[in-house]
Amino acid sequence: MIRAVVKSAAARGAETIGIEDGFAGLLEPTLWRTLTPKDTPGILRRGGTILGTTNQRNPFTCPDPPGAPRDCSAQCIDTFHRLNLDALVVIGGDGTLAIAYEFHKRGIPLVCVPKTIDNDIVETASTFGFDTAVSFATDAIDRLHTTAEAHHRVMVVEVMGRYAGWIALHAGIAGGADVILIPEIPFDLNKVAAHVLARERMGARFSIVVTAEGAMPVGGGRVVVELGSASRQERLGGIGFRVASDLEKIIGREARCVLLGHLQRGGAPTSADRLLATRFGVRAVELVVARTWGVMVALTPPDLNAIPLDKVVNRQRTVPPDCDLVRAARAVGVGFGD
Ligand code: F6P
Repeated sequence: MIRAVVKSAAARGAETIGIEDGFAGLLEPTLWRTLTPKDTPGILRRGGTILGTTNQRNPFTCPDPPGAPRDCSAQCIDTFHRLNLDALVVIGGDGTLAIAYEFHKRGIPLVCVPKTIDNDIVETASTFGFDTAVSFATDAIDRLHTTAEAHHRVMVVEVMGRYAGWIALHAGIAGGADVILIPEIPFDLNKVAAHVLARERMGARFSIVVTAEGAMPVGGGRVVVELGSASRQERLGGIGFRVASDLEKIIGREARCVLLGHLQRGGAPTSADRLLATRFGVRAVELVVARTWGVMVALTPPDLNAIPLDKVVNRQRTVPPDCDLVRAARAVGVGFGD
């Protein structure tokens, strides 16, 4: 994405300044550097970002002094003007887009690009990062089949995705999971157990359960590692271990949990993500040149589109429980614990 912005801007004679560590970079006087096409060789094949990022510095709720969030957005606006910028290209997920929208309302000319492995941004068919996470999780499920089959175990794989089950659903189907648990379809563990036991009766002495980190039992809540604050979202994780240990007690067969965690966010991006990021970056520069502000670049196959931020922020694209993907999964025997 950064490569596409830098190269296509340079081709139009424009200079790109890279702000380091996301919005935190706008709060500091020195966290920026000029980026030219000489800085971008090789980054197409790399995960993460050469500029760094943070999800702990919302300029509208700066955590200083501790316990009394303060609005520091004017400081960011000063930096924007001091650096003589014409526009901001903002890359990120829902939290980032919401902050960008606030700056847009305060007159900062900006264009956003949806980037998150969660794929939970509305109005775009996909976000970049998602395909790479799904591909990694699918590969992990493939590998876990070996132990599951050999040791006659239930292997529970917990994937990320926050409040959306897209990664679990896509990787679960692609990896041939037997049960997929997603936040959009609360599960009953007895039904999960019944599914596993039904497989056993048919001769399959192992099962693979893929659970999204945000999955929850009927009438229960999400498993949270750390509560959220004004400047940071809550951290999810751990449902997989609960499912494995409770399932083991019901079915009397060994169940183990593997938490894929941040491995899903690392490594080389897939070709689909490289393509999407390149298209998004080039379109973002086109929108800057056209002075189309306050929009998000979106994938609306077969084209890209510019969606006004007010149609995007404070909304979440979750899995519709009756969507084609869920129906396809059910048709090939996947259980959702419902
Ligand atoms: O939003 C992307 C994501 O990877 C989520 O899937 C996950 O819940 C969260 O970020 C983890 O964030 P952190 O690395 O800050 O714990």
